[in-house]
Amino acid sequence: MKFKDQIARRRTFGIISHPDAGKTTLTEKLLLYGGAIQEAGAVKSNKIKKGAASDFMEIERQRGISVATSVLAFEYDNKKINILDTPGHKDFAEDTFRTLTAVDSVIVVIDVAKGVEEQTEKLVEVCRMRNIPIIVFINKMDREGKDAFDLMDEIEQKLHLRVTPLSFPIGMGYDLKGIYNIGKKNVNLFTGDSVKQRKNLISINNLTDPKLDELVGSRAAETLREEIELVEGIYPDYDRQEYLDGKLQPIFFGSALHNFGVKELLDGFIDIAPSPRPKKAEERIVQPDEKEFSGFVFKIHANMDPRHRDRLAFVKVVSGVFERNTAYKHVRLDKNLKFSSPNAFFAEKKEIVDESFPGDIVGLHDTGNFKIGDTLTAGEDLHYKGIPSFSPEHFRYINNADPMKSKQLAKGVDQLMDEGVAQLFTLELNGRKVIGTVGALQFEVIQYRLEHEYGATCSYENLNVHKACWVDTADKNSAEFKDFKRVKAKFLAHDKRGQLVFFADSAFSLQMTQQKYPSIKFHFVSEFDSIAE
Ligand code: G4P
Repeated sequence: MKFKDQIARRRTFGIISHPDAGKTTLTEKLLLYGGAIQEAGAVKSNKIKKGAASDFMEIERQRGISVATSVLAFEYDNKKINILDTPGHKDFAEDTFRTLTAVDSVIVVIDVAKGVEEQTEKLVEVCRMRNIPIIVFINKMDREGKDAFDLMDEIEQKLHLRVTPLSFPIGMGYDLKGIYNIGKKNVNLFTGDSVKQRKNLISINNLTDPKLDELVGSRAAETLREEIELVEGIYPDYDRQEYLDGKLQPIFFGSALHNFGVKELLDGFIDIAPSPRPKKAEERIVQPDEKEFSGFVFKIHANMDPRHRDRLAFVKVVSGVFERNTAYKHVRLDKNLKFSSPNAFFAEKKEIVDESFPGDIVGLHDTGNFKIGDTLTAGEDLHYKGIPSFSPEHFRYINNADPMKSKQLAKGVDQLMDEGVAQLFTLELNGRKVIGTVGALQFEVIQYRLEHEYGATCSYENLNVHKACWVDTADKNSAEFKDFKRVKAKFLAHDKRGQLVFFADSAFSLQMTQQKYPSIKFHFVSEFDSIAE
């Protein structure tokens, strides 16, 4: 197959949702269509179960699953589909944000009864900032939930999206009769049986076709006619370019559990979702069909087996073909590296591959060369635009609890930070180390992993920080900046890259500081100049 065709047939995307909306169930149904798994229940949920026997066991279990499900690849209708897994638990939101730098589009799953939930809002905001094309799937239509129009209003308001339904439910919950595909003008009847479900697609000529009344009953047919008229009156016409530009978001309805509306979603998805997109590097925009290979690391996973300290770095191929046993340039280290056993990922297994194409994810065994955001190329000095860090929510001093093991602790902390488990800050005044995390669970993860993988023990001490802001000013020699550095010396730190960070202890003090020093900019994202790619 020609190189360009290989690119055109790839769809690399992420499914995002608030926990429990049905992401795992939907993923599983998609894999069933791809023949990648044979039965339901094969995909393990990567959820952290609350109240599990031991939090540490749970962390290990979760890590195990997240290696296995990091990338789920399958073939469907001659398309190569790569689903990049995103953890649902909010304490691992950073991980999800980073994964979103490697997807070409996303599907957002929303529970029809719960509507737009907190985690969805945050994740969609990141997608919007990056103009990632979004398809919305309203799930659990077999249950009573919100009215479709109310829900679409809610999505527009809370997620700031401009939506248009491509399918529409006929009834809901107990009264769910089916789904009408607006573009294809067919009705998918709901039987509640996930096997028979696929065979119940019936075409109608148009909405006035009496066959519709026969299929769903006159009342439901009449309601559908009125609702579709309303849809056509209120919502914009579907336009693929607007979808690709992130300006219009198509909506599908269904029930993942009953495998209902999932095929429509999948068919719609492969039809409209983009193949690998060009990516901005600091130097230039790189097109996927360029001959030379380039890619970037968006995730690093430590080995579960403490005897083998190697890690797996996940690289998204941006351009060219990645080939096994070929030397590639690690741009940050200015060093050539060869990979003898690059992994590709399939439904639940990984295999060594000889070549990978744009859109694919390769897993590279790493002994400590990679950090998240690193670029690999065939020789060119390219730097893919950074993967942003967000202000952590929790901050603690980290202290060494065993003076004999300070080296191990330093190494462990360093490597865990490279993996992106948390962020490390060094206070300017006294050099003390502070760890910042998105969720409290990460502190346990760090302590546990330091002990089990590095033989180091640590203790924490609370630190009252409301937000960490990356500080930026046009003139570092201005009197204002010097005054800021002097007055706020106690609250200043550096992140791992040496950027200056201000620890605001309350929203009020942040506001006062911003007012007092108008020429200084306070950013809540580390890559403040490159968040919108
Ligand atoms: P998540 O990955 O987004 O966190 O959600 P997951 O798929 O695990 O689904 C959460 C719960 O919602 C599961 O039930 C699942 O069976 C159910 N669910 C998913 N899709 C549908 C749907 O279309 N209709 C209905 N009625 N339920 C749905 P659970 O009881 O928490 O787990 P389980 O014991 O069934 O696995």
